[in-house]
Amino acid sequence: MLIYKEASIRGAWIRWFICTLLSLLHGVIAETSTTLDIMTKYPLIDGHNDLALRLRMHFKNKLSNFSIHNNSNVATDIRRLTAGHVGGQVFAAYVLCTAQDKDAVRLTLEQIDVIRRMCTENPEMELVTTAEGMRNSAKIACLISIEGGHSIDSSLPALRMFYQLGVRSMALTHNCNTPWAESSSSFYPNYQRKNNSLTDFGKAVVNEMNRLGMLVDLSHSSWETARAVLKHSTAPVIFSHSSAYAICNNVRNVPDDLLLLLKENGGLIMVNFYSSFVACSYNANVSIVADHFDHIKRVIGAKSIGIGADYDGAQGFPKGLEDVSKYPALIEELISRNWTEEELAGVLRLNFLRVFRKVEKVRDDFLHISPSEVEISLSEVNNSCRVMLIHPVLPKSSHRNGNAPLMPVKALIYFILLWIQLQ
Ligand SMILES: *[C@@H]1O[C@H](CO)[C@@H](O)[C@H](O)[C@H]1NC(C)=O
Ligand SMILES: *[C@@H]1O[C@H](CO)[C@@H](O)[C@H](O)[C@H]1NC(C)=O
Ligand SMILES: *[C@@H]1O[C@H](CO)[C@@H](O)[C@H](O)[C@H]1NC(C)=O
Ligand SMILES: *[C@@H]1O[C@H](CO)[C@@H](O)[C@H](O)[C@H]1NC(C)=O
Ligand SMILES: *[C@@H]1O[C@H](CO)[C@@H](O)[C@H](O)[C@H]1NC(C)=O
Ligand SMILES: *[C@@H]1O[C@H](CO)[C@@H](O)[C@H](O)[C@H]1NC(C)=O
Ligand SMILES: [Zn+2]
Repeated sequence: MLIYKEASIRGAWIRWFICTLLSLLHGVIAETSTTLDIMTKYPLIDGHNDLALRLRMHFKNKLSNFSIHNNSNVATDIRRLTAGHVGGQVFAAYVLCTAQDKDAVRLTLEQIDVIRRMCTENPEMELVTTAEGMRNSAKIACLISIEGGHSIDSSLPALRMFYQLGVRSMALTHNCNTPWAESSSSFYPNYQRKNNSLTDFGKAVVNEMNRLGMLVDLSHSSWETARAVLKHSTAPVIFSHSSAYAICNNVRNVPDDLLLLLKENGGLIMVNFYSSFVACSYNANVSIVADHFDHIKRVIGAKSIGIGADYDGAQGFPKGLEDVSKYPALIEELISRNWTEEELAGVLRLNFLRVFRKVEKVRDDFLHISPSEVEISLSEVNNSCRVMLIHPVLPKSSHRNGNAPLMPVKALIYFILLWIQLQ
């Protein structure tokens, strides 16, 4: 009896303990399960990730030396992408501005190659090139972007060939101006121009991207260039990894007047998490990142917002958002700020898919237009690496095509005269 009574008291205690624990956890569990529900239903498509840059810097692009499933040297691996509910990732093929006018095109090809290899050699990933492919993928869908117009060396044929390799987005500049578009940064002295933020050739690049169905990315472009592109582009554009200037006044961020133009254009701003861009300091947390979402929603609405965290593109991410497994912490914060499931579904993936689909629609409308044969003028791109493939070895005195047939004729006359003299 005594033993029975003791057991029953212990049972009651255990029941009480479990009930109390459950009720204490209830709030947390309810919130967490909502986050997980939403993210399972709407896996994230992130607009910008620089893992490929890390692959070059630390592993010389040798995938055989890189364990992609679990790798603490980088912020992005398959284990953490899965934990972060990432269903799609735009991977940047980025090469340093110091390669401009040198071997930027080769280096870009190598970055595209390593992204293609990564996304086709791992069964958890899938290389996609269309909005539909991205929507339907049950894996981590990879889309390739180029970060910086210096990658095309001012050549529309090069741009078209990058498209053929699967590139579907290009940032017009990185931290360097190109001969045709202006960077938000003045760190590099190349191609400083006054009042010419998008040249005629720059407009031709935008036209050709519209025709091809490539997303024009204005992150890293100067505000003047962004304004000019927003005015010129037929298709919606994106800022793939930029935040709100009103919250942190860094020139990489987007001021409210540009946000309003972006809304008119039907485009998307994908918020960057890098501490220096969200908090204007190295000290940041989830809360300040959520402030950017609240602000942009207030100015242009939740339908124009996405996420482009910039993992592996910078050092120093907010506490609680250190790597690609941490996206749920942000969604949880936005839920606590009363963001609805519909708004979050858009932020997580539907807004990007809508914009990408619209860019494809513009491409379909332009099917009757031929590839552009616009060339940049030689005076705009003159550099010692550029070889003109028109008789580069002929001496100046005989450099015209029309003169060439004269040479044998002259020689013949010379020999006839010589022969006559010798007689
Ligand atoms: C890279 O991989 C090769 C072949 O698997 C191996 O011999 C080499 O030690 C590795 N190097 C590093 C730095 O891991
Ligand atoms: C991932 O790698 C770390 C060491 O870098 C290790 O401690 C951890 O157990 C690994 N996790 C998995 C799931 O393999
Ligand atoms: C800048 O260029 C535009 C058109 O190209 C012109 O209308 C404007 O007057 C120029 N502004 C200045 C300050 O030169
Ligand atoms: C985030 O940081 C701000 C100051 O930058 C602070 O006021 C706030 O309490 C922090 N929030 C959390 C959840 O840590
Ligand atoms: C969220 O909504 C609740 C209930 O309507 C309200 O009490 C609360 O103040 C709201 N929180 C925020 C951050 O707007
Ligand atoms: C290109 O640059 C070289 C050396 O700076 C110069 O001699 C040449 O005239 C330039 N050509 C053009 C077309 O600008
Ligand atoms: Zn960047």
